[in-house]
Amino acid sequence: MNLFDQINQLTEEVQNYNIETKDSLEAFRLDFIAKKGRIPALMEEMKNIEPQDRKAFGMEVNKLKQLAEGKFKERQEYFENTPTSVEAKIDLTLPVIPYEQGNAHPLTIVKNRIVQIFERMGFSQSEGPEIEDDFHNFTGLNFPENHPAREMQDTFFLEKNPDIALRTHTSSVQIRVMSTQKPPMRTFSVGRVFRNEAISARAHCIFHQIEGFFIDENVSFADLKQTLYHFVKEMFGAETKIRFRPSYFPFTEPSAEIDISCLICKGKGCNVCKQSGWVEIGGSGMIDPNVFDNCGIDSQKYTGFAFGMGLERITMLKYQIKDLRLFTENDVRFLRQFEGLV
Ligand code: DAH
Repeated sequence: MNLFDQINQLTEEVQNYNIETKDSLEAFRLDFIAKKGRIPALMEEMKNIEPQDRKAFGMEVNKLKQLAEGKFKERQEYFENTPTSVEAKIDLTLPVIPYEQGNAHPLTIVKNRIVQIFERMGFSQSEGPEIEDDFHNFTGLNFPENHPAREMQDTFFLEKNPDIALRTHTSSVQIRVMSTQKPPMRTFSVGRVFRNEAISARAHCIFHQIEGFFIDENVSFADLKQTLYHFVKEMFGAETKIRFRPSYFPFTEPSAEIDISCLICKGKGCNVCKQSGWVEIGGSGMIDPNVFDNCGIDSQKYTGFAFGMGLERITMLKYQIKDLRLFTENDVRFLRQFEGLV
């Protein structure tokens, strides 16, 4: 085919080329305009043309080039200014879909606060398993075998192995830590505990405790009082009073229940404190020397105090929550009231 015929043919092709998409625009560019495209190739032929025909050839091939470039530019601008089908479906004037942000659970909020307070007093955090053996949950803590104290805490035992149970209190962590570390020790633990109890507004079969203890030479009951005194003021406010009431636990001697002045009636007497003006938040005492002996700690040299408190109880008092079941019902109307707290 002669070169002029080739120009005519390419002109026709360029005119008829359908450019409907960005991809076909690029294909068009590569086919005709790009360095290795067919129009530049044709221009290369200039040197093979008879000198008298060169001018005419040059003009024709230039027209073709301009035609192709013009078409390319026009389609390119079209695509730049016309939204694609996906873009066309996005209506930027529509209101946004609200993004719902969750918030921390009240028990988490209070737990975080407790961790902060004890860490600031130099207590480190410890952990123990929720599935425990008899030694760590009872025997190591000086619960004698067949002693009614074991029945104080209705335990979920493993049917196949009655030596294994869900821990009934976080005091088991005391035994875990004491039998693996050396005094001085100042540590606390927050975790889940389990008791075979009917669920009501005041009791649940799954709840949480905060356990702590401090062992060193010459640790006294005054240290226990001062530590919990500080905790209560930090947690509930400086005006809150604290009182220690004599009690009994197998693993402490002497033992005391910890009461704080009722935050709801400010000590005047109401339903929550059963008109007494005081509410119990946990137990405490000086660690029984038998517990030290069970864990290989020299009970002649060291003394220590321990305490255990209920996380649900503390949270209910702090936020005046009347029914413990609210913690596990996942009702957002309840949970949202704690928005913004961490
Ligand atoms: N473990 C006890 C309970 O669950 C609470 C407790 C009392 C823990 C006295 C202690 C303590 O560490 O010294 O009822």
